[in-house]
Amino acid sequence: MDKKVLAIYYSQTGQLRHIIDSFTAPLIAAGARVEKVQVQLVNDFPFPWTGSDFYAVMPDCVFEVPTPLVPIKLEHQQYDLIILGYQPWFLWPSIPSNSILNSPEFKAIVKDTPVVTIGEARNMWLNAYARIRQKLKDSGAKLVGNIALVDKHVNVVSFVTIFHWMFGGKKDRYLNLFPKPGVSDEDIAHASVYGATVAARLAENNWENLQTELLSQKAVIVKYPLMLLETTAIPTYVKWAKFINNRANPGPWLVAFKYYIYVALFLGAPVLLTLDALFIKPFSSKKNKLKTENFLQVNQ
Ligand SMILES: Cc1cc2nc3c(=O)[nH]c(=O)nc-3n(C[C@H](O)[C@H](O)[C@H](O)COP(=O)(O)O)c2cc1C
Repeated sequence: MDKKVLAIYYSQTGQLRHIIDSFTAPLIAAGARVEKVQVQLVNDFPFPWTGSDFYAVMPDCVFEVPTPLVPIKLEHQQYDLIILGYQPWFLWPSIPSNSILNSPEFKAIVKDTPVVTIGEARNMWLNAYARIRQKLKDSGAKLVGNIALVDKHVNVVSFVTIFHWMFGGKKDRYLNLFPKPGVSDEDIAHASVYGATVAARLAENNWENLQTELLSQKAVIVKYPLMLLETTAIPTYVKWAKFINNRANPGPWLVAFKYYIYVALFLGAPVLLTLDALFIKPFSSKKNKLKTENFLQVNQ
């Protein structure tokens, strides 16, 4: 098929690059001209991270402060489809993802163009997706599909293993005891199934109900407990970010935020989930269904 596709993303560890490679393989096999662009930052973030560098980016994530990108050079001025890869940082679009959305080069090509977003995360991506969806809408893009790949291990396990990965630099098994962090190799390979679905639609230029088809393939799964934890955490993160930004010496407060996250995960989360299961969830099924639906859909 004679179609031009741009796949644009940032990736620190290479995980998103592997996902994009897997996802775009069927499009390439179908004859589409796929231009893959891994954006570079003028001042890249460190990887592996140190503890202080890691937490220090939180306020800029929450306030969506972009960072300068090395100018993006594209082969074409117009594409039949744009694939935007992104990852959340501190529940918001990562600073590099947000910077792509803000860049004049991206804004110039995304208007009136079908876009498929593909997110990869530990397991908390809902707010990042909602923000990206809104920004794409503001730029005049036509969001036609979304895919969300996550670490499927239980929350506490993926929390431990992602720190091993982020601070150690290797996507391997912590202590040879824990599972590998991040999106599993199987799920990365499986992204090609969603790519094949998108390739068939691209050939026909028919984007109607693509998201319904992707949902039937389980391209996005919203888990109620994680949705509850994430949506509860959002206003608290905003308060922390404001508070830290107003301190002359933010260092000690970033350490306090780190401990807040630990307490929230190991103590706050079980209490919240138990109280919710007893007193709120049984009486809010309609509300929760609507809330879930919001994160499954491309048009909200
Ligand atoms: C600073 C930072 C914050 C992160 N915050 C979140 C988060 O809020 N939710 C989540 O599910 N994953 C989070 N992650 C994991 C990333 O979304 C991503 O899966 C991982 O960094 C690998 O991405 P890469 O392709 O850029 O290497 C965070 C990672 C970093 C580095």
